[in-house]
Amino acid sequence: MKPQSPVARPASLQLTPDGRLRHFLSIEGLPRALLEQILDTAESFANLGGPAVKKVPLLRGKTIVNLFFEASTRTRTTFELAAKRLSADVLNLNIGAAATVKGETLLDTLRNLEAMHTDMFVVRHADSGAAHFIARHAAPHVRVINAGDGRHAHPTQAMLDMFTIRRVKGAFEPLCVAIVGDILHSRVARSQIHALKTLGTGCVRVVAPRTLLPAEVETLGVEAHVDPETGLEEADVIIMLRLQRERMKGAFLPSEHEYFQRFGLTEERLRRARPDVIVMHPGPINRGVEIDSRVADGPRSVILRQVTYGIAVRMAVMSMALGTGTDAS
Ligand code: CP
Repeated sequence: MKPQSPVARPASLQLTPDGRLRHFLSIEGLPRALLEQILDTAESFANLGGPAVKKVPLLRGKTIVNLFFEASTRTRTTFELAAKRLSADVLNLNIGAAATVKGETLLDTLRNLEAMHTDMFVVRHADSGAAHFIARHAAPHVRVINAGDGRHAHPTQAMLDMFTIRRVKGAFEPLCVAIVGDILHSRVARSQIHALKTLGTGCVRVVAPRTLLPAEVETLGVEAHVDPETGLEEADVIIMLRLQRERMKGAFLPSEHEYFQRFGLTEERLRRARPDVIVMHPGPINRGVEIDSRVADGPRSVILRQVTYGIAVRMAVMSMALGTGTDAS
């Protein structure tokens, strides 16, 4: 397989002719009402039975395959939990032990999995465009969810981040959100920016060394800051990102130690934000590189709440894409 660059108008592939979710591949181009529907549906799942979310039969008889060609802890496990709580059958394809290592093409692997009456693929891949490629080639009844493709998009991560922000802060309009770190290589940042802008966030900033800011990032409607002291000023929400070494080709930074000295989120730096700021991170966190442990584990951190909310958000996206309605009661 050679996935292409992400398509120019992703919404046309993602939506049915009457505007419902078919595949969930990227946030870009999706209407605000659909993002709000995902958040509202996730709210109904998050409210089910308190912390121990009970199972609902919405996807009984459906088969969902987790196809993870890249490492994952949070995304893969919360997709699996979400599918099980919707009563679906879940297969986790062990790529290291799958026939792709014997030369089988991705399309042949897909055809074989479809022959087992699969209804949905949840795909993580190192190549940007991989989930679009699979969506374009899957059987008409099969739905595809992008669980992270290269530097392109990680839409369910962005939606669980939006869910966390809305739960803690309420409306998006009055907020100033600072996304700090390796913006250049981050599929999460790209999806968060599209989601925050679509949901009407008043101020979205990206804060990074110049070498880790994409060219013309301001065209996405964000403020770019190369100085964290101004970038964090009066922020309501700070989203920290790790350095994505696996996607860096060449030297972008002098050293991790210097990076922490200059951009790491410490208690002192946190004081530049508003007193009720929340600190978020998609994980995995690198303590002492982009964030100090006292902040990661401190009272302003909602990092583990993000993980918990990921289950409800993924339940929402899967149930909507498979057209099983939104009534979780
Ligand atoms: N946030 C995130 O995608 O984490 P994983 O790589 O562990 O899935």
